[in-house]
Amino acid sequence: RPIALIGAPIEVGTSEPGAVMGPAALRTAGLVRVLRDLGLAVEDLGDASPDGPAADRGLPAVAAWTRALAREVEAALGQGRLPLVAGGDHSLSLGTVEGAMRHCAAAGRPLFVLWLDAHADFNTPETSPSGNVHGMPLAALCGEPGFDGLFADPGRVPLDPARIHLFGLRSIDAGERALVGARRVAVTDMREIDEFGVVAPLRRILERVAAADGHLHVSFDVDFLDPGIAPGVGTTVPGGATFREAHLIMEMLHDSGLVRSLDVVELNPFLDERGRSARVLVELVASLFGRRILDRPAPAAAVP
Ligand code: ARG
Ligand code: MN
Ligand code: MN
Ligand code: MN
Repeated sequence: RPIALIGAPIEVGTSEPGAVMGPAALRTAGLVRVLRDLGLAVEDLGDASPDGPAADRGLPAVAAWTRALAREVEAALGQGRLPLVAGGDHSLSLGTVEGAMRHCAAAGRPLFVLWLDAHADFNTPETSPSGNVHGMPLAALCGEPGFDGLFADPGRVPLDPARIHLFGLRSIDAGERALVGARRVAVTDMREIDEFGVVAPLRRILERVAAADGHLHVSFDVDFLDPGIAPGVGTTVPGGATFREAHLIMEMLHDSGLVRSLDVVELNPFLDERGRSARVLVELVASLFGRRILDRPAPAAAVP
């Protein structure tokens, strides 16, 4: 399906400036070109802008972006396109997931969210140690208290936490840890990845989405990756996904055919080293959209 690239130069959800340059760096690193080289139809819709009076920081500012992005993502999906939203800090996923939720509700299709991230991003204004909204989008989407006025429709049906899969988790605050446990969010943390690798846990997730004929939204936070390969992010955490794990995940996502919308978030070019992180991200996106080493089917799983 054709891709609609939407830039979301947003950094109101973080205290570290620079993520506003993320979309430009991804374009400079060749995001559109690699996708077209794969034979895909890509329309770059340019950068979105917040809907309504722009506030400097915090929830009112994020609300204005959420409205705009939800509308753009829902529209792209309605046209049968795959929205690829390039950020921008992770608060942008409030808009992209909300847009996907509306599309899925209208289509009667269950939405699943795969959150590739070092963090859980399940803080509320109450539990957050930093006050940064990029650490809160999942809690807000799930209807936790403290986010009044964030969504246009206060009576919206919240996202079901049981349909969220956190993948790569290795940093979580005390309050959000309790909340993630209480809400039964599905988690593949780094401990599990160290013990079993990425393949078995990801296969289980993909089988679940396929069995429900679901829409899979993938939200890729740069800090999912190890800082050694992707230093260009404000919230690096040691012990992240390797280059090879990340590519394998992207290839499996492509082979599944389940991904219907994608965020690439938290790239901070101001903290990057000569565009390294932007380049790695573009390579990974190419793998997710079908770039492969050889033109042959994926190897069959070994029979145990
Ligand atoms: N848990 C921390 C906080 O709430 C860090 C969140 C980082 N989130 C992100 N999208 N990079 O501030
Ligand atoms: Mn659809
Ligand atoms: Mn993160
Ligand atoms: Mn995040």
